[in-house]
Amino acid sequence: MSDTRRTIMRVLEGETVAPPPIWLMRQAGRYLPEYRQTRAKAGSFLDLCYTPDYAVEVTLQPIRRYGFDAAILFSDILVIPDALKRNVRFTEGHGPEMDPIDADGIGMLDTDRVLEHLGPVLETVQRLRRELPAETTLLGFCGAPWTVATYMIAGRGTPDQAPARLFAYKYPKAFEALLMLLADISADYLVAQIDAGADAVQIFDSWAGVLGEREFAAFAVKPVARMIGAIRKRRPNARIIAFAKGAGYLLKDYRKKTDADAIGLDWSVPLDFAAELQKDGPVQGNLDPMRVVAGGVALEDGIDDILQRLGNGPLIFNLGHGITPQADPENVRLLVERVRGWRS
Ligand code: CP3
Repeated sequence: MSDTRRTIMRVLEGETVAPPPIWLMRQAGRYLPEYRQTRAKAGSFLDLCYTPDYAVEVTLQPIRRYGFDAAILFSDILVIPDALKRNVRFTEGHGPEMDPIDADGIGMLDTDRVLEHLGPVLETVQRLRRELPAETTLLGFCGAPWTVATYMIAGRGTPDQAPARLFAYKYPKAFEALLMLLADISADYLVAQIDAGADAVQIFDSWAGVLGEREFAAFAVKPVARMIGAIRKRRPNARIIAFAKGAGYLLKDYRKKTDADAIGLDWSVPLDFAAELQKDGPVQGNLDPMRVVAGGVALEDGIDDILQRLGNGPLIFNLGHGITPQADPENVRLLVERVRGWRS
């Protein structure tokens, strides 16, 4: 009998699949003309996230075009602060903004109606599982507590998250309370996504790379381990990918300490070190998104290196971070074809 399990789920269970399955972070996004069209119809970015008709549509767009092995729910990590009533807005040319929170404000956060607020996102997950091809894995996601906290404290994105790092040193108790609150509601949110039909979930710690050694243990590892523990207690078979961008050598024990199934790797992770991490379980990554923009030899060499050095173990092929708006959709097609044409 043929194996009908979805390829990405096989890799998440530790199998080597050759050629490796592929999806791309931010695969639904501004590099696609059909995304820009739906985005214009939706009005604001948050309206796009909270209107299941639109969110389902943009999630499916890259699947129709390229047949990726996974669809990732279209939403944003900042719907959590939005559900916590932090007045999140996405204005053209500014990136995300929200009301910055202070130590007193953390004690007053109201977590009561978070999942109700996120109801439309959960409806999107349900509808996606019905509309996706049977072979396509559906990924849910959320931000890691540290990364979400950086935006909540600064009220916007900053180059090195100095406001959140400073806040953590000055107000350690309030900061710890914020991380634990975010860990608990994010675990509830991911359980709700799994129950709505997500096959696996990814936790994005996009700002892990600005943390020192002790801070990585306290602000990145500990809250993510708490989240994963809370999820596994309720859904023992949950499959979880943890992506701590920029963490470098600190990724060494990250899988063991967090209990994630797979580790996401950014493009700065050396492939020898990646291969070492892969001995303990699946890895995902790690092509530089700029290689997709450049195309040609830069794209081909980057793909071939990853396939040769990680393709003989459990690998989910991906970029090392989100695809950028200037990427040519034709280069994405070449990327998918080259990965799918590879034989170990
Ligand atoms: O296709 C997918 O990957 C699913 C959708 C998705 C989005 N954001 C859509 C989005 C996912 C998984 C995210 C995660 C996210 N959001 C992260 C973690 C991953 C990462 O990129 O580091 C972070 C830090 C955010 C916060 C965020 N959202 C920022 C900083 C920005 C502005 C920067 C930018 O690229 O414009 C966003 C906006 C955003 N989220 C867009 C998309 C497609 C672009 C906004 C638009 O279409 O106008």
